[in-house]
Amino acid sequence: MPVTVLVGAQFGDEGKGKIVDYISQNVDMVVRFQGGDNAGHTVVNQMGVFKLHLVPCGIFRKDCEVFAGTGMVINPDELIKELDSIKQKDVDTSNMKISSKAIILMPYHIELDSIAEGGKTSIGTTKRGIGYAYADKARRNALRFEDLLDLEYCKQRIEQVLCTINAELSAKGARAYTQEEIFEKCQDWAQKLGDMITEPVSYINNALNEGKHILFEGQLGGMKDIDLGIYPYVTSSNPIAAYAAVSAGFSIKHITNIIGVMKAFSSAVGDGPFPTEMGKAESEGFRGDGSRVDDEFGARTGRARRLGWLDLPVLKYTSAINGFTELAVCKIDKLDIYDKIQICTSYKLDGKVIDYMPSVRELYKVEPVYITVDGWLCDTSKIRDYKQLPKNAKKYLEIIEQHIGVQVKYIGVGPMREEIIVR
Ligand code: GDP
Ligand code: IMO
Ligand code: MG
Repeated sequence: MPVTVLVGAQFGDEGKGKIVDYISQNVDMVVRFQGGDNAGHTVVNQMGVFKLHLVPCGIFRKDCEVFAGTGMVINPDELIKELDSIKQKDVDTSNMKISSKAIILMPYHIELDSIAEGGKTSIGTTKRGIGYAYADKARRNALRFEDLLDLEYCKQRIEQVLCTINAELSAKGARAYTQEEIFEKCQDWAQKLGDMITEPVSYINNALNEGKHILFEGQLGGMKDIDLGIYPYVTSSNPIAAYAAVSAGFSIKHITNIIGVMKAFSSAVGDGPFPTEMGKAESEGFRGDGSRVDDEFGARTGRARRLGWLDLPVLKYTSAINGFTELAVCKIDKLDIYDKIQICTSYKLDGKVIDYMPSVRELYKVEPVYITVDGWLCDTSKIRDYKQLPKNAKKYLEIIEQHIGVQVKYIGVGPMREEIIVR
């Protein structure tokens, strides 16, 4: 059975939530494989409008199990809040489980992130504590969900980790945490989430051996990968397909399909280089005023997203580091209003066209080389059959396919589940 990994092909917010919600009709299990509640994955279906942060977007399918994977850093309070809010909209959440090996994101991680973002070290994070939770994981100073299943052991771990954390907090002028207050929280989380905590390797490998179709849901996009993205303006995990296997605890050879989700233009949140970024006035057509669910404001932080024309060098790069086998292009409908559309096909550095992704320092200096193509100036949102798309919209998609060498399988023409063309 197929094992599909779905990842963001740009800087995040490409429409992953919508595509996972759509394709989860055909899968048995959706596993979020990295990140935390820095994610904002928008789903609009007959059950309502949802901006999911920790819960995988397969939750709306009755027969689909959903799993918060080992590679995640999870704020239990946020997870409890999110589960409650979707239960209130009559969504059954009983199919959700959490990896026992996932990291617990603590209140002090958020505090440390906020302190860093308030000063010279700011890179425009979501202030959700993500970097600090992953840093504690790397320096072996974090608690895992499995620790909640043995509260005596949990108490010992709290004592160990708080020494380092409190020294750091006090150096930054913040108050220390007592062992009791963190332990109280752990007791509460154990009581509310304990039944969902599951050993991940046997759970996922058993599903695989039973022939289940597993879909891995990535967070953010390749350009924000900690190793291969625009460091230091990146997140602290690997939002690329290979990491799905690490997070699952199985061999990479099991992965059969890798879907790169992209927007028909570019957007980014946070600091860092963005070669095709448009001026504020020019980008108004994409942004909207915030009244529509698909207007370009961050689903997590509400920040106005930075916007730009499509950047093919970015897509070529993320295709190389992920190995896309198919593409999903969202928001093609947002180009409906343009008479002329620009596409960046390469970068020039010091006057010369380059054929690689340059360093971040150089990326600030590159000059995007654009081609201008004719728009289609008609409403594509009602179209469900590829053949019915206007000729110039098909040409636009063909340019993407030719440059990336990967077929476009899904085309988003609106924010709702059914506003999609499948080829
Ligand atoms: P994610 O983080 O990759 O899941 O993406 P976000 O949910 O943060 O941002 C994508 C935005 O585009 C959301 O507002 C979606 O409702 C919206 N969206 C997704 N696909 C389409 C599409 O094909 N057309 C339009 N108009 N909006 C879309
Ligand atoms: P989804 O999954 C867009 C950005 C932040 C910042 C950088 C690091 O919805 O695509 P972090 O809080 O992770 O330490 O911030 O990454 N960022 C996102 N941008 N969409 C997201 O998630 C993001 N998650 C983090 O703005 O630049
Ligand atoms: Mg998002």
